[in-house]
Amino acid sequence: MKIAFFSSKSYDRTFFEKHNDAEHELTFFETSLEPHTAKLAEGFEAICAFVNDDLSEEVIQCIAEFGVKLIVLRCAGFNNADLEASEKYGLKVYRVPAYSPEAVAEHALALILTLSRKTHKAYNRIRENNFSLEKLNGFNLHGKTVGVIGTGAIGVAFCKIMLGMGCKVLAYDIKVNEELEKRGVKFVSLVELLEKSFIISLHCPLNPSTKYLMDEAAFSKVQTGAMLINTSRGGLVNTKDAVHALKEGKLGYLGIDVYEQEGDLFFKDLSEVVIQDDVISRLMTFPNVLITAHQGFFTNEALAEIATVTYQNIADFEQGIETGNVVK
Ligand code: NAI
Repeated sequence: MKIAFFSSKSYDRTFFEKHNDAEHELTFFETSLEPHTAKLAEGFEAICAFVNDDLSEEVIQCIAEFGVKLIVLRCAGFNNADLEASEKYGLKVYRVPAYSPEAVAEHALALILTLSRKTHKAYNRIRENNFSLEKLNGFNLHGKTVGVIGTGAIGVAFCKIMLGMGCKVLAYDIKVNEELEKRGVKFVSLVELLEKSFIISLHCPLNPSTKYLMDEAAFSKVQTGAMLINTSRGGLVNTKDAVHALKEGKLGYLGIDVYEQEGDLFFKDLSEVVIQDDVISRLMTFPNVLITAHQGFFTNEALAEIATVTYQNIADFEQGIETGNVVK
């Protein structure tokens, strides 16, 4: 099959070429998929898209007219895809639901530990021969209450890690996970989770019911000095409200791997560019905020699994097999 990759990076090429056992014809475009780049899809049967590619009705209609039959998302989230439009224009959409839940859960832990033990500051200090411990005091995770919102594949992996750290784990999800309950996780209401947790970690998808889950009203309920971790999707947090909560001291720490407006910034080297986004610029000035650029998934194990499952999705499409990886 002829497949066009959008938003592709060197590592996409490396892993997709390595696992291309069926010898598909691969073309890698560095540009993202947008209305003005959609014409690049002409002549391809499938396009392989990533988290910030635009799969709106305008783009889907355009690529359908160029003969594209299949969209394979090389990610778990599919909030960027207009599924009504894909159905209307007869395009199947597949995703990779759980390539490595542990990769994202471990990254959430990395954000927590960096913020709680200030290892990023220690690293810079030591490189300048500053061996002082002043202001590097942190806090133990052991004994803290951690609230997990969304207990799917990643949320489950994260709960297990936090239980292992000796934390008390509260969870909120639209459906209770009995396996986690048996391990000692307590499912509570969203309000109770916000009020009782010192660390809150978001692992639910972005959809109309979760958009701005963490807004001014939610921040007013959290413990003063609480930590919020978001490795899920930027739109779960109203960033302006988060800035306000940080300035007030209501929010004590913020660790984010995703950001509402990340499409304009993440995965790009903008080191010589004047950033126009004043909200992320403000966030970057806080000493208690840690930002990574959507790298939660970024382990060798996960990249290999993404390539393997994407090729399996293509094989299933070719054979007309409907699997759970089809997004509707
Ligand atoms: P999943 O589909 O296995 O689990 C999502 C969970 O959220 C489910 O248990 C579901 O019931 C729950 N949920 C849905 N609506 C909810 C609501 N309104 N309130 C509370 N819970 C709700 O998804 P998975 O694999 O655990 O991924 C979670 C999210 O992580 C993805 O949607 C994606 O946005 C993000 N992600 C981030 C990555 C990164 O590199 N930072 C990589 C992969 C995924």
